[in-house]
Amino acid sequence: AEAARTVAARSSTCVPRAARRQAVIEARKVVVLGAAGGIGQPLSLLLKMNRMVTDLALYDIANVAGVAADLSHCNTNTQVKAYTGPDELAAALTGADLVVIPAGVPRKPGMTRDDLFNINAGIVKGLCEAIAKHCPNAIINIISNPVNSTVPICAEVLKKAGVYNPRKVMGVTTLDVVRANTFVAEAKGLDTRDVDVPVIGGHAGETILPLLSQATPKVLPWFTAEEAAKMTERIQNAGTEVVEAKAGAGSATLSMAYAAARMAESVLLGMAGEQGVVECTYTESSMVPGFQYFASKVRLGPGGVEEFLPLGPLSAFEQEGLEKMKGLLSKNIEAGVESDPSSM
Ligand code: NAI
Repeated sequence: AEAARTVAARSSTCVPRAARRQAVIEARKVVVLGAAGGIGQPLSLLLKMNRMVTDLALYDIANVAGVAADLSHCNTNTQVKAYTGPDELAAALTGADLVVIPAGVPRKPGMTRDDLFNINAGIVKGLCEAIAKHCPNAIINIISNPVNSTVPICAEVLKKAGVYNPRKVMGVTTLDVVRANTFVAEAKGLDTRDVDVPVIGGHAGETILPLLSQATPKVLPWFTAEEAAKMTERIQNAGTEVVEAKAGAGSATLSMAYAAARMAESVLLGMAGEQGVVECTYTESSMVPGFQYFASKVRLGPGGVEEFLPLGPLSAFEQEGLEKMKGLLSKNIEAGVESDPSSM
C-alpha cells in the first residue's frame, strides 16, 4: 500500500449522513468481477467516485476495455484498469484488498433466484478458485445469486484450497436494507437517509426478514401487526417488482450497484480502522443454531467481520418469520455446501 492519506472517508452519497467522517486510510485495490454487466458498470462508476479506492480493476469475460476507458476520463484519483477474459484474471486479482462479485446471469420474469443456481454456481466457483490462488487474503463481497447458496460455494472452494477465512466472505444483502429503509421512510414520512432497518436471514423470498420492530428512528403510531406483515412482504418481493417492470431485461442493477457501493465503502472503512461500522451481511455464522450461514448485523473491522451483533428482541411476527424461513434457508445452504465443485 502507498503512503497513508487523509480523505473524506464517507465520500459517496450511498452511506447514511450520520456516518460521514474523516479517516486516515491507505491505498486500496478493489476488483469488480463481472464489471461489464448491468450491476458491474454503475458499481464501477460509484467505486471510481470513492476516494478510498485508489486502484480499481475491472474484470469480465465480455470486453470491459470500453467501460474502463470511459470511467478513466472521470477526474477522480482512482486508477482504473481493464482485464478481459480468463488469461487476465490473475493480473486483475493480484494485490486485491476487496473483490466484489456481480458476475452471473440475472432473473427474468417468472424465475426465482434458485433458478440461477446451475449457471451462477459454476461462475462463482471458477472465480473463487482464482481468488484463492491470487489474492487469498482479500475480503470477498458476493452479489451473484442465489446469494444463500453462492456464499457457501465460495467458502467450500476456499476451504479446499486451504485459505478460507469465514470473516472475509460476505454475501451482499445491503439491497434489502436499502429497500427497507426507503419503504419505511416513505410510509412514515421520515428522511430516508436517517432510517435504519436491520434485515436478517438470507437473500431470497421468505428468508429476507426485515426487523421492523428494531427500525430507527421510530415515530408513533408505528406499524400495526397487519401493516408490518404487508411491509415485510413488499420488502421480500421488491426484487421481483423490478424484474417485472424490466419485463425480461434483467433484475435490479442501479439500486444494487448503489447498495454494493455502500457495502464496499463500509468494508473499506472497517479495514481503515474506522470504529462502529455496522452492516447486515450473509456470512458463516452461529447466530441461529442449526444454520451455518445467516445474515445479521456485524461490526466490520480490519479483518472483515469483527463481531456479530445480537439479533435483539424479535416481535411475535418476526419470530414467526424466522421459523418460516428455516426450510428454504436450509435447502439453499445445503445446495451450496453439497454442490460438487468438480462437476461444475
Ligand atoms: P448481467 O448479465 O447484466 O451482468 C453479468 C456480467 O457477468 C456480464 O457482463 C457477464 O459477461 C459477466 N460474467 C459472466 N460470467 C463471468 C465470469 N465467469 N467471469 C466474469 N464475468 C462473468 O447481470 P446483472 O444484472 O449485473 O446481475 C449479476 C448478478 O447479480 C446476477 O446473478 C443477479 O441475480 C445478481 N443480483 C444480486 C442482487 C443482490 O441483492 N445480491 C440484486 C440484483 C442482482
